[in-house]
This record gives sequence, C-alpha cells and structure tokens, in this order.
Amino acid sequence: MRSSSSSIRARLAALLAGAATVGALLSGVAHAADTPLRELGAAKGKVVGTAVTGSKLTGTYGDIAGAQFGSLTPGNAMKWGSVEPTQGSFNWAEADQIVAFAQAHNQQVRGHTLVWHSQNPGWLTNGTWTSAQLNTLLQNHINTEVGRYQGKIAAWDVVNEPFNEDGTYRSTLWYNGLGADYIANALTWARAADPAAKLYVNDYNVEGVNAKSTALYNLVKSLKERGVPIDGVGLQAHLILGQVPSTFQQNIQRFADLGVDVAITELDIRMTLPSDSAELAQQKADYKAVTAACVAVARCVNLTVWGFTDSDSWVESTFPGQGAATPYDANYAPKPAYYGIAEALGGTTTPPPTGVCTAAYSVGSQWNTGFTGNVTISCSGAALSSWKVTWTYGAGQQITQAWNAGCTQSGAAVTCVNASYNGSVPDGGSVSFGFNANWSGSNPVPTVTLG
Ligand code: G3I
Repeated sequence: MRSSSSSIRARLAALLAGAATVGALLSGVAHAADTPLRELGAAKGKVVGTAVTGSKLTGTYGDIAGAQFGSLTPGNAMKWGSVEPTQGSFNWAEADQIVAFAQAHNQQVRGHTLVWHSQNPGWLTNGTWTSAQLNTLLQNHINTEVGRYQGKIAAWDVVNEPFNEDGTYRSTLWYNGLGADYIANALTWARAADPAAKLYVNDYNVEGVNAKSTALYNLVKSLKERGVPIDGVGLQAHLILGQVPSTFQQNIQRFADLGVDVAITELDIRMTLPSDSAELAQQKADYKAVTAACVAVARCVNLTVWGFTDSDSWVESTFPGQGAATPYDANYAPKPAYYGIAEALGGTTTPPPTGVCTAAYSVGSQWNTGFTGNVTISCSGAALSSWKVTWTYGAGQQITQAWNAGCTQSGAAVTCVNASYNGSVPDGGSVSFGFNANWSGSNPVPTVTLG
C-alpha cells in the first residue's frame, strides 16, 4: 500500500475537520486513493493535470498538486494581463514559480493562454491600433512569452475561445482587427518560438457534438489542410451537474480522427450549494464519465481539472449559489468526484464510508463491590462487519464475566471483540454487549475506542 504525503495530509485535514466527533469513533475519514491520479493516468497513457495558483503552492495545496498531478496549468499567471500589465514591463514571477515547481515535481506545464479576448492588459484593450500594429503586438507577445519558456512547456493553449455558441467567430480585438487568420498566424509564430511545444486551440461548450464544436472541427480541418501547425484541441469542460454531453466520446473521437490530440483542459462540474450527498454522488458519476470518455480515445492525452480544490475555483464567484465543482473539498479532503476520476483510470480504491460508527460505554446497576456495564456500537452512514472495542480502566476495575462479546483483560487494558453472531452492524443499526466487573474506591467511565 502506498501512502503519499498528500494523502496523509488530506487524512489529517479531514480528521481535524471532524475533530468535534471524538471518543469511540471509527469514522470514514476521507483519504486519497492509494495510487496518485498521475500514476493511474500514466498507466492509461493520460496525463492528469490541474490548474494552479502560484502563491498557493505550499503546504497541503502544494503537496497535493505535486503528488497527484502530472501536469500544471497556470490558472491566470501566463495570461497577457498578468505578464505584461504595463506595455514593455513584464512580470513573470508567478509563471516562473509554477514552471519551477513543475520541474521540481517532474510535471508537464500547459501554457495558458497566448491569444484571448479576456484578461488582456488595459493598455492593449484601450489602445487604438492599426491592423499592422496589432499584428506586430501579437507576434511580439507570442515570441516573447513562448520564447521565454521554450523547451519547458508541453503544450500551449495558443488561441482561447475563438467561437460564439452558433459557430461563428467571436467578435474580439483580434478577429475584428486582423480577421480569422489571426489564428493561423498565432499558431505559426508559436511554432517558430518553440518547435517542441504542442499547439492547441481551446474553447468551452465544445465537449459534445454541436454547432460550436463543429466550427472548431472545421477550423482544425482547414488549418491542417493549409499546413498550419496545429497539434490539438482543448475541450475546457466547465460542466453543470448531470449534464455531461452524451456525445462527449464521439466528439473526442472525431477530432482524433482528424489527426490531432485532444485535451480536456479545464474540467469542473458545478452544482447548487449547499452540496448534498446525492449531488456529490452525481458529480462522481459525471467525473467518471468524462474521464472514461478520455480513456476510451487514445489521442485524448491530457485530463486537467480547473483547480483541484473547492477553495481554489473560479465557479463560486462567477455563478452565485453554485460551486463545489472540483474533486477535493475546501479542506483538501478528496470528494466522491476524486474517486470517480480514479476509478475511470483503473484505480481500485473505493472511498471509505462517509458516515461514522461509534461505541458508547455506560454503567448500569452498581453495588458495593461490583457493577454491570454496557457498550453499544452504533452506525450512521456507515456499517461494520466486525468490531473490536478497547479501553483502559483507570481505577482498578476488573471484568469478571461478559456476554454478547469476547472480552479479555490484561492489567488495566480491556479488549472486547464481537461474538460469532453479532459482528455485523448495519447502517442505522446498533449492537450491544454487557459485562460484570468489580470495582472499589471509584468507578470512572473509561474512554473507549472502536477499531
Ligand atoms: O488578482 C486580483 C486580485 O488582486 C483582486 O483582489 C481580485 C478582486 O476580484 O481579483 C483578482 O483577479 C482575479 C483573477 O481571477 C485572479 O484571482 C479576477 O478578478 C478574476 O476575474 C480572475 O478570474 C479568472 C477568470 O479566468 C477570468 O475570466 C479565473 O481565476 C480563472 O480561473 C478563469 O479561467 C478561465 C480560463 O482562463 C479560460 N476558460 C474559462 C476559465 C473560467 O473563467
């Protein structure tokens, strides 16, 4: 059994989060699968990645990002507005940090993104530019950024979100100023600046077969026919609970059949808050379905989540009342969605029960030298097929006889295990056993442990 530092931390985080429930507790403390997602993915020929925020890459967040994922995408750090907030004045700090972290953890980096209509610097969007000036600005931007990270980026989202929902080109600074060929030119310049990087066009609402994904398909087809360098398409996959398109795999396959790779670049699945167990179960099924669609197509090379924890997701601020969209909760405990990904990648670990079983000790009748005790084991949201309850007496008590359990006492330490007929404690049920014991002086109630 492997036990990564991240899973230990996640277990600890989950344990601390549940620390109010102390005492005789055998709880389903959430823990990550024994094999990290990146290893499960590698065994299937898939790179499993996450978007990250550079400033958070320490502590538990950094441990999980490094251990579980084989690819990092800077969520914001490589966007034009981040790297060149003032014309000619560059800030590479966060992007450099993420690249260095990735190298230290043997991870790929997906560069995101070179040409977009959003998160551009004010000087660019507010300027008045001729087509020639705009063309030069774009070429220089691509040369500078791709060149800076040449050899360190596995794939670039060169062009982001070029289409409207109906498949027409989105009206943007680039399309309006340069025409549709801004896409081909951007790809060509990116290839020149880093011949080894895979070059992608990336968009959302293109996961199923629809007008927008067909426009993307036709674009890729035409780029390939023209000899323009294009290596892959990114399907962002910002999905709504229960709405994984039924044509997801078919759509991936048609791009693969065109001769390009496919990456699921920004997967998250949002739900109405507060989340409940039915929603989380549906989310697991949805994550599993998306992952399975990628697994089914050899050219689906990368599956990246857009933030791995609910504490680092764009969803809640953008869609009020919606959230819980990622595979880990805000306390870094893996959610059912995590196991949906793991299972679709062939992982065998199933999540522990999310409920708890507890043992409660009580003293019944008590007389001058003896007393009758009782222990009840109860389960809620969990179940047991066998049990063992232990405690240590603090005042010299000595068990003389037990029923409905096999009890032994060694010094002050008592161990009671189930009888052959009452090991099973169902969800919502309970089992009790009793004993007689001697006491003198005082008879304090011990702390019992169910394990
Ligand atoms: O950095 C500032 C901070 O100084 C300020 O205090 C704070 C106040 O709002 O804003 C911070 O900037 C925010 C930035 O994320 C960093 O957190 C911006 O307001 C916010 O708009 C920006 O949102 C990003 C969003 O793109 C912008 O469209 C999300 O983090 C980012 O996850 C998201 O990512 C996009 C992909 O690039 C493309 N596909 C869609 C996806 C989701 O929108």
